[in-house]
Amino acid sequence: MQNNSRILEVKSLKKYFPIKKGFRKRTVGYVKAVDDIDFYIKEGETLGLVGESGCGKTTLGRCILRAIEPSEGSTVFKDRHGKLVDVTALDNKQLRAIRRDMQLIFQDPYSSLNPRMTVLNIIGEPLLCNGIAKGEELRDRVKHLMELVGLNSRHLERYPHAFSGGQRQRIGIARALATNPRFIVCDEAVSALDVSVQAQILNLLQDLQEQFDLSYLFISHDLGVIQHISDRVGVMYVGKMVEMAATDELFNNPKHPYTEALLSAKPIPDPRAKSRRILLEGEVANPANPPSGCYFHPRCKYAQDICRHQAPAWTEVNQDHFSACHFASELSLQGVLAE
Ligand SMILES: Nc1ncnc2c1ncn2[C@@H]1O[C@H](COP(=O)(O)OP(=O)(O)O)[C@@H](O)[C@H]1O
Ligand code: SF4
Ligand SMILES: [Mg+2]
Repeated sequence: MQNNSRILEVKSLKKYFPIKKGFRKRTVGYVKAVDDIDFYIKEGETLGLVGESGCGKTTLGRCILRAIEPSEGSTVFKDRHGKLVDVTALDNKQLRAIRRDMQLIFQDPYSSLNPRMTVLNIIGEPLLCNGIAKGEELRDRVKHLMELVGLNSRHLERYPHAFSGGQRQRIGIARALATNPRFIVCDEAVSALDVSVQAQILNLLQDLQEQFDLSYLFISHDLGVIQHISDRVGVMYVGKMVEMAATDELFNNPKHPYTEALLSAKPIPDPRAKSRRILLEGEVANPANPPSGCYFHPRCKYAQDICRHQAPAWTEVNQDHFSACHFASELSLQGVLAE
């Protein structure tokens, strides 16, 4: 179910990690991991977030949930009562309360689950911590959550090592669902899985979205996965959002040269078919020392003089189609259908 009302609005969000050097740990610079980003997520939609490794996707996802503190900017979230809450302004108690509504699913089902906890305790922990259920009721709720994500509920006393990669990811999803959230950040949630298992988990996420009217920020470096699951897509480059549009629009009618380059790039072949990272010519800019003007200019085949001096503004080129390129309206770029 999708409507146009926004569940999340991110404004001027920044995360600068200080670079410290020497004996006295002086700050000598900053890694601009998230550098002045604006966007929104509509209720019930999946916003995909794509970009090469190190471009700031994880940092952005975590700043939104305040799993790490943003340096500047705001994230306004619509809570379960329809109230707009600035997550960046909450104290710890308020933050704990809103976390019931905002959850995170991690990439690696091997390291994100505590190997010494049973599935009952892993999935039940958020219910116990938030005072939602205990004892027999907790057990029943965990069983129900296991069934929801396609796990056998008789296995609730087992430990994570007894499960396959796909099953572990289902445990992670059940845990994220336990508090009945409205919004989930899925950070490379299927990237560590084999392709056939990826498809099952993606289908599960889509079914759960329908069933519980969830909104997702779905982070992945894999364009195929992003195209499959997203209603809209945002493209990041060196801490900046460079383009955002509805999925078909972005893939067929890109308005940023970096998106065009991503779409034309070949996946790196992987014999285990677990990860299909994209291979692009030229080196990614360093977020601690980015180029002047448009960060993409050293790799951009359309770069002009102005690109070296002036940073392009984030502009709505068509309705709901944003791009940060001086020549977004003039360039005729190739989408995937043009192959
Ligand atoms: N805790 C940290 N301290 C310093 N730099 C960090 C930290 N976390 C991430 N970074 C840097 O921020 C940039 C963005 O990282 P990340 O958000 O993990 O990118 P992605 O998820 O797109 O691969 C990278 O240059 C990374 O090295
Ligand atoms: S602003 Fe210039 S360098 Fe940057 S993407 Fe557009 S054309 Fe390329
Ligand atoms: Mg990441």
